[in-house]
Amino acid sequence: MAYSEKVIEHYENPRNVGAFGKEDEDVGTGMVGAPACGDVMRLQIKVSADGIIEDAKFKTYGCGSAIASSSLVTEWVKGKTLAQALEIKNTEIAEELALPPVKIHCSILAEDAIKAAVADYRSKHDSIETEAPICA
Ligand code: FES
Ligand code: FES
Repeated sequence: MAYSEKVIEHYENPRNVGAFGKEDEDVGTGMVGAPACGDVMRLQIKVSADGIIEDAKFKTYGCGSAIASSSLVTEWVKGKTLAQALEIKNTEIAEELALPPVKIHCSILAEDAIKAAVADYRSKHDSIETEAPICA
């Protein structure tokens, strides 16, 4: 498998590796697995009070393309709103990294991880909203 230069560059210098507190209220965590190969990706976003993703981190147990895809999307989501982050398509990731067809599922993993992280963040905040009347 010949990896593109961009994949190798992200693989050797992954951006934003790490973790935030899973329970933190300003954090959304997406944990997804790829049925095709068993790889696992965890992507987290930290969201400001005005709904902007101010930071992102990932940990990926997987191939070079999966690591590069997650590294790339942690860079892409920063400064975006949740709605904008949901617009990131795996095809854009695959194109940016010049992934070959057999590695497309690695970019799908990254898109799914963002969606899962946003959904997790929103689910935390929905529950806060429904709990709010108790203290009102
Ligand atoms: Fe799973 Fe890439 S095939 S590591
Ligand atoms: Fe499965 Fe890359 S995530 S081969």
